[in-house]
Amino acid sequence: MDATTNTGAKAAKLSLGEKSWDLPIHEGTIGPDVVDISKLYGQTGLFTYDPGFTSTASCESKITYIDGDEGVLLYRGYPIEQLAENGDFLETCYLLLYGELPTAAQKAEFDLSVTRHTMVHEQMTRFFQGFRRDAHPMAIMVASVGALSAFYHDSTDISDPTQRLIASIRMIAKMPTLAAMAYKYSIGQPFVYPKNELDYTANFLNMCFAVPCEDYKVNPILAKAMDKIFILHADHEQNASTSTVRLAGSSGANPFACIAAGIACLWGPAHGGANEAALKMLTEIGHVDRIPEYIKRSKDKNDPFRLMGFGHRVYKNYDPRAKIMQQTCHEVLGELGIKDDPLLDVAVELERIALSDDYFIEKKLYPNIDFYSGITLKAMGFPTTMFTVLFALARTVGWIGQWKEMIEDPGQRIGRPRQLYTGAAQRDYIAMSKRK
Ligand code: CMC
Repeated sequence: MDATTNTGAKAAKLSLGEKSWDLPIHEGTIGPDVVDISKLYGQTGLFTYDPGFTSTASCESKITYIDGDEGVLLYRGYPIEQLAENGDFLETCYLLLYGELPTAAQKAEFDLSVTRHTMVHEQMTRFFQGFRRDAHPMAIMVASVGALSAFYHDSTDISDPTQRLIASIRMIAKMPTLAAMAYKYSIGQPFVYPKNELDYTANFLNMCFAVPCEDYKVNPILAKAMDKIFILHADHEQNASTSTVRLAGSSGANPFACIAAGIACLWGPAHGGANEAALKMLTEIGHVDRIPEYIKRSKDKNDPFRLMGFGHRVYKNYDPRAKIMQQTCHEVLGELGIKDDPLLDVAVELERIALSDDYFIEKKLYPNIDFYSGITLKAMGFPTTMFTVLFALARTVGWIGQWKEMIEDPGQRIGRPRQLYTGAAQRDYIAMSKRK
C-alpha cells in the first residue's frame, strides 16, 4: 500500500511485474479506509477474490456502523445502548429511515402513519389457509411477505419516491400483523385484528396472545422488553440478509419481493436462525454438569457442533446487543416471577466457562445477541419457531432503510459478482453412444 497519487489523493499502488496502478483510497467518517477496486478489471484484467466478503465493502452507507473490535454499534451515529435505554422502536425506525431523531410532531405523525397501515388485505387471511398448520412460521413469512406485492400494486413502482415511502411504511406496519397471524395459524387460534389504540409493540403482543373469548391486557413491562428487543435487532450493517435484500433490489425487484429474500436468508442457523438453535442447544445440554462435554465437542474439528449464540463475523469482542439482551432477560424473568429457570442456569454457567476458556479467548468468541434472546422470548410465551420471525419483524426496518438508500443512490448498478472459475475448460460435446 502506498501514499498518494500525482493529484495528492490517497491511493494504494498495485504492482504486477513491470506495471503498476494507483488504486484510490476512500475514507469513511469512522472505520477502516477502503481501496477502490471498481476499475481494477478494466485496467488490469484481474478480479479480486474474497469468498464470504471478509475484506470487501460492498457499498457506501450512512445508516449503521459497527466497530467489531471495540464492541460498538451505532445507528446513524447513536450508540445502541442509548437508543435502547431512552427511545422506542418506532423512534428507531424513524431514525434509520430518515437519518435524524424525530421531533415530537414528526414522531406523532410517523406513529400515526404506521398505525394506520397495520391491517392486511382481508384476502391475505385466505392465503394463510393454504399452509399446513405445522408449517414453520418462517416459511409462512417468506411466502406472505413476498405475496404482499400481489396485494399492494400501488406501491411497487420503485422509481416513484412516494410509492417507495408507502411500501416502507406498509412493510414496517404489516410485519407484526403477519408475524402474529403466522403464530395464531400454527396454534389453531383465530387471527386477532390490530388495535389502533395500542402502541406498535403492545399491539403485536395483543395480536399474538389475545383470544376473542376473554379480555387480554398487555403487560407493560413485557411490552417494554419486547420493544427493546426490536430496537436491538433493527439494523446491523451489511450482514448476509441485508446484503441479500440489496442484491435482490439492485435488479429493480419490488421491495416486498426483496424483503422476502432477506427473510429467507435470515432463516439460516448461522444468521437469524441462531436464536432458535441456541435455545435448542441449551435445552439439549439441560444441566450445568453436561457443559464440559459440549464445550469439548465445540472445539473438535471433526464434530460439526458449534456453541450457538457464540461468535460473530464482525464482533471480536462482546456483542453490545448481547449485554442489553442479558439485562432484558433478567427483567423479563423477574417480572414473570421465574426464579429458577434451569436454562438460565445453563446459559450463565456456559457463558462463564466459555469466557475463561483458552479456545474461545484465542478465537475471540463472545456471546452474541442470540445467546440470551431465546430464554427471554420463551419466557414471554413464544415457541422457538417464532424466534427468528421476531428477528425478521424488527430487521424489516433495517432492510427497508438499506434498500431505500441503495435505490436513491444515483450511482446504483445491478450487483453482479464475478468468480474464480475452476471447472472444465472448453470441450466438445460427445454423442451418448460414444461416451465411456
Ligand atoms: N463454537 C465453536 N467454535 C466456533 C464458533 C462457535 N460458535 N464460532 C466460530 N468458531 C471457530 C471456528 O471453528 C473457527 O475455528 P478455526 O479458526 O480453528 O477454523 C473460528 O472460530 C472462526 O470461525 P468462522 O466460522 O471462520 O467465523 P465466521 O466469521 O465465518 O462465522 C459465525 C461467524 C457467527 C457464523 C460463527 O461464529 C457461528 O457459526 N456461530 C454460531 C451461530 C451463531 O450464534 N450465529 C449468530 C450470529 S449473531 C446474529 C446475526 O447477526 O445473525
